[in-house]
Amino acid sequence: MSQENASTANQNVWTIGRLINWTKQYLTENGSESARLDTEVLLSEVLGCERIMLYTRFEEDPGDAIRSRFRELVKQRAAGCPVAYLVGHKEFFSLKFNVTRDTLIPRPDTEEAIQVILDLVKNGQFVPQRILDIGTGSGILAITLAKELPEAQFVATDLSGKALEVARSNSQLHDVSNRIEFRQGDLLEPVRDEQYDLIVSNPPYVSDAEFEQCSRDVKEYEPHSALVSGPTGMEIYQRLVPTVADSLMPNGWLVLETSPMLAESLCMLLSQNDFENVQIQPDFAGNPRIVYGQR
Ligand SMILES: C[S@@+](CC[C@H](N)C(=O)[O-])C[C@H]1O[C@@H](n2cnc3c(N)ncnc32)[C@H](O)[C@@H]1O
Repeated sequence: MSQENASTANQNVWTIGRLINWTKQYLTENGSESARLDTEVLLSEVLGCERIMLYTRFEEDPGDAIRSRFRELVKQRAAGCPVAYLVGHKEFFSLKFNVTRDTLIPRPDTEEAIQVILDLVKNGQFVPQRILDIGTGSGILAITLAKELPEAQFVATDLSGKALEVARSNSQLHDVSNRIEFRQGDLLEPVRDEQYDLIVSNPPYVSDAEFEQCSRDVKEYEPHSALVSGPTGMEIYQRLVPTVADSLMPNGWLVLETSPMLAESLCMLLSQNDFENVQIQPDFAGNPRIVYGQR
């Protein structure tokens, strides 16, 4: 084959580099705001390699079987399915968590709740012995804290039995299942007559109207019951905060994730219910995100 013919043939091969460029464009046109990242995560998943390794394989022909599996995932992503559900996992606080459509996809904002709690421990504000995570979903809060605080025991609850199955499997994956008890039920109902040093929760706080404004990826794929609280977004907090003190040890802490729009109202709700040292911790983008206070 002449040099010219070889180069033309190579241009027609769907190499890894060519697949990335084409798919990035295609996903952008189909509404993805993170098309390059989506492309690379999906392609590294089907290739079974780290994302960073794609950069050393640009000229490689991945073969028909890989291309066909990749095409199938890209089609679903273009239809709106989040990448985390397609690959079945998502990173949180540098740990890998399995997710399914029964669980919310972990958000980076939630890492701030972990940081607030680790800082409370570091500053001697409490000794972590018993910690409760309400609405655990995939288990990210309880499991990450269990990794970080090896002396602590945890209870993690959720209304959804299917989410709890995922959380339980993640606790096994991270080797902390012996320190986390999973219980099903509404808010504090599964922990009646028990007291904790700290209660953390990232409960549903999206209002009905906000939900309508959410992207297709969220609205059509993530569990409604994990996101939406009711007409104002405050409904779950209004049920939880007035009764939660009984489940906290004296001087125990309550740490709640919320939306920037609700943070002030949530602070007020904590103060009205006799919480002290009520504070707001902003997220990475500087938006008020974590509200916490002491019994
Ligand atoms: C926003 S998601 C948070 C999941 C996980 N903690 C995280 O940060 O990714 C809220 C979780 O609370 C659960 N939930 C909703 N209402 C609840 C209730 N009344 N009692 C207990 N859990 C509830 C949902 O099933 C969902 O898993």
